[in-house]
Amino acid sequence: MVCILCFHGPQCRDVSLRLDQLVLDLTNPVKKETALLELSKKRESFPELAPYLWHSFGTVAALLQEIVVIYPLLQPPQLTSSGSNRVCNALALLQCVASHPETRTLFLEANIPLFLYPFLNSTSKARPFEYLRLTSLGVIGALVKVDDPAVISFLLNTEIIPLCLRTMETGSELSKTVATFIVQKILLDEEGLAYICATAERFFAVGTVLSSMVEGLVEAPSVRLLKHIVRCYLRLSDNRCARDALRACTPEPLRSPAFTACLRDDAVTCRWLAQLLVNAGFFADAREVCAENLQPSPLLQL
Ligand code: TRP
Repeated sequence: MVCILCFHGPQCRDVSLRLDQLVLDLTNPVKKETALLELSKKRESFPELAPYLWHSFGTVAALLQEIVVIYPLLQPPQLTSSGSNRVCNALALLQCVASHPETRTLFLEANIPLFLYPFLNSTSKARPFEYLRLTSLGVIGALVKVDDPAVISFLLNTEIIPLCLRTMETGSELSKTVATFIVQKILLDEEGLAYICATAERFFAVGTVLSSMVEGLVEAPSVRLLKHIVRCYLRLSDNRCARDALRACTPEPLRSPAFTACLRDDAVTCRWLAQLLVNAGFFADAREVCAENLQPSPLLQL
């Protein structure tokens, strides 16, 4: 019999490497760890892995079990590197389910993202925790990539924003970037922007964290993080109340050519920043942003 998933010739003769066997192994406690590792390594090569994982008997339960079994290690922080690797392999398989168009809605309707929220809530800076946060954010990041308003509604209703803000405050540069990307995707949605701008507390909670990340970038620059921060600010400026508030709380470095010079090679972000400064009423600063690579302002909407 050939493997129903991979149809590969020689590989399929070795039963322990067959994808269908590996999926079955997920429900066998003795073989589970190896199966998690092998499947997560191979997941990119098999486009139909996600529906197979979802619809096979006991598989999703076996993945969720990997998650809940480490909850007791979160507080006080006791997770080891190998424990973290193992649960991250399970998360990689869930990310595959979250990304697939056929299983994304089922994944949401089963409330599976909620199982990851305790990982986003942890603030330990130890590597196993940082890796766990980053991988969990990757699953949420995969969900928001597709611009589905149902995803955004789900995330708002389950209060993901305070969790993202927490990582944006305390995470590594990479997990900050993914968390900011998620907030950016929420803001770009109409309901998401309205939600964040619905109260001053929410707006300032987001604004304060964005601003402290900008201050942090003065010491340790990161163009990819700055790009998402600028896009978040620009989108906030689409809301009337937020736009007025941004006049008072746009962080100083965003108005300083010495700081924003790092965006020199990124014309898109330069344009976003210049538009943000125009929207916030800093016309003179807008003209200075990346002056050498931006056309003098016909493209900017005043
Ligand atoms: N329950 C809080 C609220 O609705 C959730 C929250 C905390 C929040 N911090 C936030 C929402 C920041 C948006 C932004 O306000």
